[in-house]
Amino acid sequence: MSFYSLTLPTAQFISKNIGYKLYKSFFVKIARGGVMIDYGNRNISWIVRRYEQLYNEEKGGWNLTNSDDGALDYASVEMEVGRFYYAFINLVGAKYVLETGTNRGYSTALIAAALKNKNKDGKLFTFDTVAHDHLFNQKDFDNIIFINENSITCKLDINIQLDILVLDSDHTYHTVINELIRYEKHLRIGGYILMHDTLYYDGVGLAVEQLINNHRFETITLESPRTHGRQSRCPGVSIIRKNSDDMRYPLVENQRLAKIARNMVPGETEQAESYVNRLRRKRLGTDLQAETVST
Ligand SMILES: C[S@@+](CC[C@H](N)C(=O)[O-])C[C@H]1O[C@@H](n2cnc3c(N)ncnc32)[C@H](O)[C@@H]1O
Repeated sequence: MSFYSLTLPTAQFISKNIGYKLYKSFFVKIARGGVMIDYGNRNISWIVRRYEQLYNEEKGGWNLTNSDDGALDYASVEMEVGRFYYAFINLVGAKYVLETGTNRGYSTALIAAALKNKNKDGKLFTFDTVAHDHLFNQKDFDNIIFINENSITCKLDINIQLDILVLDSDHTYHTVINELIRYEKHLRIGGYILMHDTLYYDGVGLAVEQLINNHRFETITLESPRTHGRQSRCPGVSIIRKNSDDMRYPLVENQRLAKIARNMVPGETEQAESYVNRLRRKRLGTDLQAETVST
């Protein structure tokens, strides 16, 4: 038997089988709504995948009524943010996560899916004062514990150490700072806080300012893609790492900030600038001045 009679059928076999598999996986992805919705993960239920098909990438909103008039819903985080949460938890790993602001459960489902990849015994506690129709169900997401209560007034006692907090409830300074005060003490050192809308809502930005100024935390804020259909500022996401439990630096509701927050129109003032942006600019100005003086 010649060398060619052995290698040719092998080459044909490989090209036929591997080629067919590549072709098939590509078209299966297209049929599901595009390559973009493939997480390559069995823990993401088809309900979540279908929900993602309602996402308007240009405006960063959700076409929940499938209407042609372009009316979009902005309650769920942007799809890019949901996927970021998913990737983030896959990256850093976690066992216990606490979320405020479940809404329909888009962020909840992605956090829970990532959690399941990382830790079969992991749990996600998620709070909402309203029990919406959820994208997740108990069968696919048995690691989600939905708590139909107010995040800051509920009586629930947390007696576990949390790895990640995800805050996205009512976006006022009062609520956000009190969620931080209440739950951050249960967050382990080296754990993370993810916050949405920190560039859009000044009240949330004020709470982030406190974290930026507190020695116990490292904070970075990223722009996110939502435009709300106009050229207003984007929601933004802050990632905070807790580095210490040193109680010389407690988090408290700051009355000066509370007073500022009371006079703010949340996010809607086109010219208004979020607190986080203003703080960034102020710091940049000061750093540039210092640099000029020292050179
Ligand atoms: C912006 S939505 C959350 C979106 C969700 N993270 C997602 O991506 O689908 C805010 C939700 O927070 C809830 N909420 C507001 N204040 C709350 C509070 N103090 N405690 C619990 N839930 C609250 C609202 O009912 C609403 O459903």
